[in-house]
Amino acid sequence: MLNGEYGWAVAKAMEILVKVGEAVNAPRLIEVKHAHVSGVSYTNIGKYGLDFIMDFYRKGGRARIYTTINPGCVDYSGFSSIISNKYLNEQLLIDRALIGMGFKPVFTCIPYYYRPPMPGEHLAWGESSAVIYANSISGAFTNREGGPISLAASITGYTYMAGFHLLKNRIAQVELYVSEEVLSSPIGALGLWIGDHVKKIPLIKNINRESLSRLKILLSSMAASGSHAFAVLEHITPRNTYSLEIEDKVHIEKNMIEKYIGDEISPGEKILGYIGCPHLHPFELLELVRLIRKRGSVRRGKLLLTIPPEFLSKYNYLVYELRARGVDVATGTCPVVSTFREKYDVVVTNSGKAAFYIRRIHNVKTRIAEIKEVVNYVT
Ligand code: F3S
Repeated sequence: MLNGEYGWAVAKAMEILVKVGEAVNAPRLIEVKHAHVSGVSYTNIGKYGLDFIMDFYRKGGRARIYTTINPGCVDYSGFSSIISNKYLNEQLLIDRALIGMGFKPVFTCIPYYYRPPMPGEHLAWGESSAVIYANSISGAFTNREGGPISLAASITGYTYMAGFHLLKNRIAQVELYVSEEVLSSPIGALGLWIGDHVKKIPLIKNINRESLSRLKILLSSMAASGSHAFAVLEHITPRNTYSLEIEDKVHIEKNMIEKYIGDEISPGEKILGYIGCPHLHPFELLELVRLIRKRGSVRRGKLLLTIPPEFLSKYNYLVYELRARGVDVATGTCPVVSTFREKYDVVVTNSGKAAFYIRRIHNVKTRIAEIKEVVNYVT
């Protein structure tokens, strides 16, 4: 591959992997089963990123393994009154090239919904929220890759064997015990606290009764405020995919996470409620329909949900009902990598990751709340 027998694109992709592998002292390459390509939003990668992807596409780069694509910066339903489709043409160029390379156009940050990884399986995933989910909940082995590496892994079927591909690097060293009081608070705030304060791989205790939805929020929030890509979740993370060498123990109490809940909302402020970071699972969509039915419709501010584009047709009747009740359902996109059509005073969300980035990128106040509370704010 490296010598060019398989063409320019494969040789270039292999060169990238070999160079990175050498830089991190990887002993060899390893086969991967699934690549998830992030770094595909035009607002993030701009013209140079577009050229990079087009180069691989035009020169024959094709997926050798199952490959999925992260969200872009436009709403594919075309109905969102919140997400602007300002960069539609540029985003479509990127998408066409990725699809042309044989990547599955899921445009979502929950690739595990389309292909749940197996324990011990090696992956090359971009998208920090998906990486930490794959390592911690599925017990798969992946580093937190950038877009170019996951693209190169797709084209070659390999990645460099280092970091979380090696069992010797999957050692939890800090034990975190989460108090009951903390568990009754928005879990996104706990995730932000862990990301901010814990620099080693944690073993998190007392969270095994939490739903997968809440764990998804916890992990993605940790990955946002810290560089976490793996946490051992007691009684959840599959055995034989980690080991323990505990050096420190921390009991997490409510007063420690309070400041991570965010800003107070003043009367009269323009509120945007946001749920769907990471994208919603069908069960979460159903739960939201149930909650909103109880409250009637969105009457104060706006409520944005983000889902994979495929759900538009698959769960058509749910999306239709949500829209009829005033909910803005955007598909294949994410407010962090998109531009808003108008300015809001405050974004209320259940996601620590969304709060962390939206505050910085859109320069707006944010508040973390449970899903039910987010719905109550806007209905
Ligand atoms: Fe997904 Fe965007 Fe959140 S890619 S995890 S909705 S920041």
